[in-house]
Formats: sequence, structure tokens, C-alpha cells
Amino acid sequence: MNLTDRIAVVTGGAGGIGAALSRRFAAEGAAAVVVADLDAEAAHAVAEGIGPVAHAAALDVTDEAQVRALVDDTERRFGRIDLFCANAGVTTGGGVEVDDAAWDRAWRVNVLAHVYSARAVLPGMLARGGGHLLHTCSAAGVLTAVGDAAYTATKHASVGFAEWLAITYRDRGIRVSALCPQGVDTPMLADGIAEGHLGARVIAASGAVLTPDQVAEATIAGLAEERFLILPHPEVADYARRRAEDPDGWQAGLRKLVRRLTA
Ligand SMILES: NC(=O)c1ccc[n+]([C@@H]2O[C@H](COP(=O)([O-])OP(=O)(O)OC[C@H]3O[C@@H](n4cnc5c(N)ncnc54)[C@H](O)[C@@H]3O)[C@@H](O)[C@H]2O)c1
Repeated sequence: MNLTDRIAVVTGGAGGIGAALSRRFAAEGAAAVVVADLDAEAAHAVAEGIGPVAHAAALDVTDEAQVRALVDDTERRFGRIDLFCANAGVTTGGGVEVDDAAWDRAWRVNVLAHVYSARAVLPGMLARGGGHLLHTCSAAGVLTAVGDAAYTATKHASVGFAEWLAITYRDRGIRVSALCPQGVDTPMLADGIAEGHLGARVIAASGAVLTPDQVAEATIAGLAEERFLILPHPEVADYARRRAEDPDGWQAGLRKLVRRLTA
């Protein structure tokens, strides 16, 4: 997919990666970019910064009726949605001790919201014979987010769901991409680094921390090539290969890194 004259929706569009995607889509010539976020004020600020092509929307991705209303409204206003980016995501910052409410929130934002948006946009895309779903998952969805059990489990689920969609709908004109960055300099990671969280330190020790604009750059390339797995950190492919070939050896390596960082 090339963004010229496209209609795109970005959830979590007020945050680091979502805002960078929104800005980049507009710069690539999109006809409209809907910047949707729980934080309506921040979404307005991002849209205003982009200019008239951008439209802010208040959206809680965990509320299916709101997702459906946003899709209906966008299709009514602009005639179609070419690219839907399910990008909003949350961490919990803990392990098995994290309470059920936080597990539930991670499940709803990181997984169920992707189901809601696919349910809402697929009928129109299938009727028009095409469309692209971009799901922001994470390297945690193909590896592990040390220090965050619910993030790891839900991001694995999000990659699994995206793969299911890709296999099920590709021959009917639908393209699906799973964006799986490792460390990106957004409030989500920066807060963890500032507070010295183990997970954030493991990410920082595992590869470069990219800017959101670098992730947007890699996304544009991945969308152009209609790639399923978009890996802004190419080393993640290597880690995933090692993990698949030798799960015990890969876990031992990760445990060694954790021991080194906590010594
Ligand atoms: N920052 C990283 O290192 C990193 C790495 C890999 C993947 N990711 C993923 O990238 C995506 C974007 O994260 P980010 O780093 O830009 O984080 P961020 O916290 O800067 O932005 C996330 C945005 O999602 C919004 N949001 C949260 N819950 C929502 C809801 N229920 N409805 C609508 N919007 C909601 C927030 O308001 C925020 O604007 C997430 O899915 C995250 O898991 C981030």
C-alpha cells in the first residue's frame, strides 16, 4: 500500500508511535488521517499540528460500539477506509501478581480492540475488494517482555490474531501487517527507563531505542511491500529465529542478560 490519496485511521494516534504514523501518512499524501485516542485533547493537538487532512476523534478502543461508530462515521464522511491501524496499547509493568483488572485492561486494549476494529472495517473492505489492517503488536509478541507478563501474553495473542486474519483474508484482497518494534522512545518506554524498571533496561540493552519517526519510516516501507511482519529492529528476526530453533538456549541467554543487569 502506498498512502497517496488514502483514507487512514490510527488508534492511539495521540501517543508516540500513533502520532508519528499519523504525521507520516499525511506527509505521504493521505487524503484523510483520523487520529483517534482515549485522550481526545491530545488527539486534537496532534491533528491540529498535522493540518486540515487530519481529523481528531475521541475513542476508547475497548468499547465496540465506539469503534463501530468511528468506522461508520469515517466511511460516511470519506467514502471508505483504506488503512486501519489498531495501534493503541498498554503495559502493566508487572508479573503474575498484577491484579485481574490490569490483566483485563491489557487483554481488552492489546487484543480484543483488534477484533473489534477488524469486525467493523472488514465488511466495507471486502465489499470494495481491498484494504489494509496494520496492527501494532510488539517484539514482545514474538519474543518476551521481561518484567511484564500480561504485555507478553497479550502481544503474543495479538500477533496470532493478525496472522489468522492475514491467512483468512489475503486471497480476498485484504492485507494485514503486524508491526513489531522493540524499544521505541515514547512515554510508554521512557517512563520505565526513567524509573529504572528491569523490563525497560532489558529493552535498552537488547538493541537500539528507535524514535517514533524511525518506526513510521519502517512502517511505510513494510506497507509498500505488503509485508506481514514489519520489524523496525531487524535484529528481532534473528532473536525470533534463535528462539524457534533452540527455545531453551534462547531462554538461557535472556536469563543471563537479566542476571547481568541485576547483579
Ligand atoms: N514504546 C515502545 O517501546 C513499544 C515497543 C513495541 C510496541 N509498542 C506498541 O506500540 C503501540 C503504541 O505505543 P506507544 O509506545 O506509542 O505508547 P504511548 O503510551 O505513547 O501511546 C499509546 C496511546 O494509546 C492510547 N490509548 C491507550 N488506551 C487506549 C484506549 N483504550 N483507547 C484508545 N486509545 C488508547 C493512549 O492514550 C496513548 O495516546 C502500543 O500498542 C505499544 O504496545 C511500543
